[in-house]
Amino acid sequence: MMKKKIIVTGGTGFIGSHTVVELMEAGFSVVIFDDLRNSEIGVLDKIAHITRQKPEFEQVDLSDQVAAEAAISKHSDAVACIHFAALKAVGESVENPLLYYRNNLFSLINLLQTFRQKPETAFIFSSSATVYGQPDILPITESSPVVPANSPYGNTKQMAEEILQQSVDAGTINSAISLRYFNPIGAHSSALIGELPKGLPNNLMPFITQTAAGIRPDLKVFGKDYNTPDGTAVRDYIHVVDIAQAHVVALKRILDGKSKASYEVFNLGTGKGFSVLDVIKSFEKSSGLKLKYHFSDRRPGDVEQIYADTTHANTELGWKAKYNLDDMTSSAWKWEKNLRGIK
Ligand code: UFG
Repeated sequence: MMKKKIIVTGGTGFIGSHTVVELMEAGFSVVIFDDLRNSEIGVLDKIAHITRQKPEFEQVDLSDQVAAEAAISKHSDAVACIHFAALKAVGESVENPLLYYRNNLFSLINLLQTFRQKPETAFIFSSSATVYGQPDILPITESSPVVPANSPYGNTKQMAEEILQQSVDAGTINSAISLRYFNPIGAHSSALIGELPKGLPNNLMPFITQTAAGIRPDLKVFGKDYNTPDGTAVRDYIHVVDIAQAHVVALKRILDGKSKASYEVFNLGTGKGFSVLDVIKSFEKSSGLKLKYHFSDRRPGDVEQIYADTTHANTELGWKAKYNLDDMTSSAWKWEKNLRGIK
């Protein structure tokens, strides 16, 4: 039987590459659309090594309408699009909001505009727990209010969800799912793909592994006076492979006609909150190393604590995170060691 082809935008990036692997292992064929501004072409060979098949690839900036249309029309046999391609650095978005609105929103609009010719294309969107801000009630369900975003980046995720919902309502496309990720960390068990931030990492896990690898002198722990058990901020960390597998489940839900509504939203988290110090302790346990860190001021814009209510994803989507925090920190360290040639 012919394999169903899936377009994965941002497929050479961190979450995208892990999702491509899971899709190919589930029997789909994949074409990646990526402009490589924040990822490496070598990821394709790594994916091929893991799955024994090479995904197709188009280097394309999807915020360019003509280029986006041309790439999609070359792959008119695709039955679905999983849209990861986006900029994601909160601080950079505050400094350069137009870059974020142009890139993140134009890309989505260009994709939807082109799929209007083929509204049966299943669409999965990469959203974020950032849409909830600092919630009053924890854990957070999908019906928790979406609050005004505190960065242009966060606003692009909120606006994108609205654009998608309204496009589905208008019949531009028939069916879509937004997946709201909590804090994806970790790496594939092969240690061939993982998170590869360019320059200084913004996020905790790559900062920890780069510090342990000797690339950074020490980790700053942002804030120790939060109203949490140990005073450091709490997040719902989730293994990137769990996140990737949720995309395959969500995709099949649309393709098999199982969606309960034409537009659906699911939280992707484990439902458990861990502090920054919990992550450091887990890392030290799984690596056998002592991590150098010191406390510093809170980072502007950070929320105190956030973790998911996963009931909707567990019962309705039929997906549940399998990996624990030690799995996440040990796989992240295995990846960093492999990358840097550390024994
Ligand atoms: N942290 C440190 N030191 C660092 C980096 C992070 O202490 O060097 C702390 C942060 O203050 C926070 C926790 O580690 O308490 C997690 O920070 P990350 O930057 O890894 O993740 P965030 O929760 O800030 O960010 C995530 C996503 C963003 C999204 C944001 C808002 O990565 O895309 O959630 O929900 F916008």
